[in-house]
Amino acid sequence: MNKIDYALSKMPLLNIFSSKKMIHNQIVNRLGAQPFRIWLAEKRYGIRPKFLTDETSPHIKTLREKGIIVIPNFLPQEIFEQLEKECHHAIENLEPSVKREDGPNFYTNIANQRLKEYSTINAVLGNKKIEQYFKAAERRDVDIKKIVRLLSCLIQGEDNAKKDPETTLHEDTFFNTHKAWLYISDVEYKNAPFVYVKGSNNNKITDRYNKSYKYSLGKGNIHSRRISNEELNELNLEETHFLAKKNTFVMANTLGFHRRLRGEAGSKRIALAFSARFNPFI
Ligand SMILES: [Fe+2]
Repeated sequence: MNKIDYALSKMPLLNIFSSKKMIHNQIVNRLGAQPFRIWLAEKRYGIRPKFLTDETSPHIKTLREKGIIVIPNFLPQEIFEQLEKECHHAIENLEPSVKREDGPNFYTNIANQRLKEYSTINAVLGNKKIEQYFKAAERRDVDIKKIVRLLSCLIQGEDNAKKDPETTLHEDTFFNTHKAWLYISDVEYKNAPFVYVKGSNNNKITDRYNKSYKYSLGKGNIHSRRISNEELNELNLEETHFLAKKNTFVMANTLGFHRRLRGEAGSKRIALAFSARFNPFI
């Protein structure tokens, strides 16, 4: 959240023009603030410059339609091998920036500021090709050095009595917003692959205006909206599990429905993660 967005989020009424997921005002919500925000953000996105290049153009077309793109063999092999070595070394030797328990699982990440001594990681975190994908996806002049960039590691834990909240299908927010991962590990069923519902980035296909309106009226509904199996069936949509080889680049519009699967205890998934979240109205 930048300064203007933060200021907007604190001002009554004007906070409907912030990037806050939900507005905590029942009167405003009854008047339809949430579908209005969805509509306005979509219109604003539609008139933004496209920032397409010959390379990104076909992938971005898929991203608009399906909400996700998968590009295997993203980096040249010798660069990827060096990157892989550096990532393992960093995870074994650096103190994480964040340590978190997601239900039974253990999530850590190391922010880019702590990774500067690793020349290949540093270069990939500033990769111009990835920057081009973010420019075209977000339709704004994204500087890759200003978005969130992490080396992330997810280890599956043993306790099946606890539930990882990230394994429940959800939409992150009410507008087009993108995350990307360059996989450092092969992603198999044992290490909790990413799951996405293709097409669920589309507001009409998902009946998002009505669903979000109803959700906004519920007291305490301040988090990302969760999507039930019944809702998915009703919409005639289905999940895709994204198994992938290391050195695959995945970019997803997390307005669309997504989650990760539960894996097998002890399995580890490592990725370089990139995340952009801007105010959708500015
Ligand atoms: Fe999410």
